[in-house]
Amino acid sequence: MTVHHGAFPATRMRRLRASAWRRRLVRETVLTADDLILPMFVIEGKNLREPIASLPGVARVSIDQAIATAQEAKALGIPAVALFPSVDPSQKDDSGKEAINPGNLVCRAVRAMKAAEPDIGIICDVALDPYTTHGHDGVFIDDDVVNDVTVEVLVKQAMTLAEAGCDVVAPSDMMDGRIGAIRAALEAKGFHNCMILSYAVKYASAFYGPFRDAVKSKGSLGTKGKHTYQMDAGNVAEGAREAALDVAEGADMIMVKPGMPYLDVIRAVKDAVNVPVLAYQVSGEYAMIAHAAAAGAFDRVAAMREALLGFKRAGASAILTYAAIDIAKDLAKK
Ligand code: PBG
Repeated sequence: MTVHHGAFPATRMRRLRASAWRRRLVRETVLTADDLILPMFVIEGKNLREPIASLPGVARVSIDQAIATAQEAKALGIPAVALFPSVDPSQKDDSGKEAINPGNLVCRAVRAMKAAEPDIGIICDVALDPYTTHGHDGVFIDDDVVNDVTVEVLVKQAMTLAEAGCDVVAPSDMMDGRIGAIRAALEAKGFHNCMILSYAVKYASAFYGPFRDAVKSKGSLGTKGKHTYQMDAGNVAEGAREAALDVAEGADMIMVKPGMPYLDVIRAVKDAVNVPVLAYQVSGEYAMIAHAAAAGAFDRVAAMREALLGFKRAGASAILTYAAIDIAKDLAKK
């Protein structure tokens, strides 16, 4: 970057800021509805919207309501939604086998949504945590998640989702080698256009708290939590390495998660790999802003927009945010 040094008063930085049109003209980064992905929590039933206490303004919704919300999102210009099932505890077990049932809640949601609204992208998580009693993302034996056995199950889960019509499978489990295995299975079955969004750079984070409420996956994680598979918060270079490995295995896009506490990581990953890098404004980040706004600290939408623009500045091509609808509405106004 070339920096021109001019001396005052020939140079006055405020000239460029003196009116709205000048600021619009020279803005380096913008946020648009095209940048937003709406995550949604889906439950069984009809006509249901169950508010989530730790995630103000977000509800668990039945499939019919999820479709209505997806249609609203599409009308506002939001390109894609991400579906997360909140399954009944009676359907959870130690192995998480409901994940590979083609008639499970999320697969039914995908089919119904694609039938009603073919032109919105559907992203689904590949990980076992919504389905396991312990709440881990994989097969849990002797106080740890076993890698290679888990990958075999994840491949089946990804294929089940692709067969249901999911456009983007998004492994969020952090096992080694799962991207290559899923890509091979998709290619073998002719799903050439099914994208893989790899949560390659996912940290073991306190900020997932409200999400675990939403999908009731708090479980009992044992003594190590998710620290043996999700990344350590102190690392950046490791994130770039994770991303490069997953691109080599066939990932189309890379996710960095959480977002706001890891903006440096978004930039490092963006500079390291030549694929779109997405970021997730996770539940705890969203909740932080929502709660502070409710307490009168600042305007909710203004704070959200500023936070999301920061993701773009850091290098994100798109952002998953629970505020996607409100932000798209606000962007439509001005
Ligand atoms: C599960 C998953 C998590 C999130 C998305 N997928 C939680 C976890 O890893 O425990 C968190 C999203 C959020 O907090 O908004 N694989």
